[in-house]
Amino acid sequence: MKKILVATDKPFAKVASEQIRNLITEAGFECLFLEKYPDQQALIQAVGEVDAIIIRSDIVDKDVLEAAKNLKIVVRAGAGYDNVDLGAATARNVVVMNTPGQNSNAVAELALGMMVYQVRNHFNGASGTELYGKKLGIHAYGNVGKHVARIAKGFGMEVFAYDPFVKAETMQADGVIPVDSVEALYTHCQFISLHIPANEKTKKSVNFDLLSRMPSNAMLVNTARKEVINEGDLFKAFETRKDFSYVSDVAPDNLAALEPFTGRYFVTPKKMGAQTAEANINAGIAAAKQIIAFFNDNDLTFKVN
Ligand code: 3PG
Repeated sequence: MKKILVATDKPFAKVASEQIRNLITEAGFECLFLEKYPDQQALIQAVGEVDAIIIRSDIVDKDVLEAAKNLKIVVRAGAGYDNVDLGAATARNVVVMNTPGQNSNAVAELALGMMVYQVRNHFNGASGTELYGKKLGIHAYGNVGKHVARIAKGFGMEVFAYDPFVKAETMQADGVIPVDSVEALYTHCQFISLHIPANEKTKKSVNFDLLSRMPSNAMLVNTARKEVINEGDLFKAFETRKDFSYVSDVAPDNLAALEPFTGRYFVTPKKMGAQTAEANINAGIAAAKQIIAFFNDNDLTFKVN
């Protein structure tokens, strides 16, 4: 019987885990769980006999792949797969998939939630500002970006987007104004919401040049990855412009450097954009179904390597 391991240091909601277990066992496979594990060694030890792994932001590196002698497939229940060593997986003939779109609404709701929290001074009673009528720039118009646009329009924001991989007509059909360069997006929009993946091209790409272009009372919203920000430049933006604020899921590596700027930033203690029962069910069930379809029908939809 094939063994499918759900390895989630940050566990799915209980209701999602139960549905994943039922689906996998009803399909005739064994379902194992490794949740909130103490260290990477625990993951390495757990993968020895398994044929498939479902992960979230869990690290699947060379050591994990080396230890998983029977492994055929890893499914990242979520969008970003920067936590998987794709080269090492391909070298071992391990298929890697993600579940695009399944947790996007949850991430988008958090982005808008953090924006409201910041413009209302962390709900401390002081008079704040509103989102209505303000310009929001969506940096990458993928699954999350589209949901952010929809919700922001509900707030009455004017929504712009930059994405070289998405047609202008697609954005226009959603009532979003396409912008043809990243510089123009930052120059034009008081609020910027990041939705770029973390890869060799995008890491550290959000830099001082872009941040210094933003209009007054600029706010950067990061529900993407901390790696896409040039941290030194982020701190420089805080120092040089008193009107700059930052909300992020999650903290920069050097969180202590933000301490002098209390009130102008908010970071989640643990990455929680996709931490809703709905997103966990959607992404977890999609991952389980993709693994079942892979083993039963050799279905390679959503393969990323
Ligand atoms: C994603 O890439 O899908 C999101 O960042 C969510 O990550 P998580 O599953 O670790 O919460």
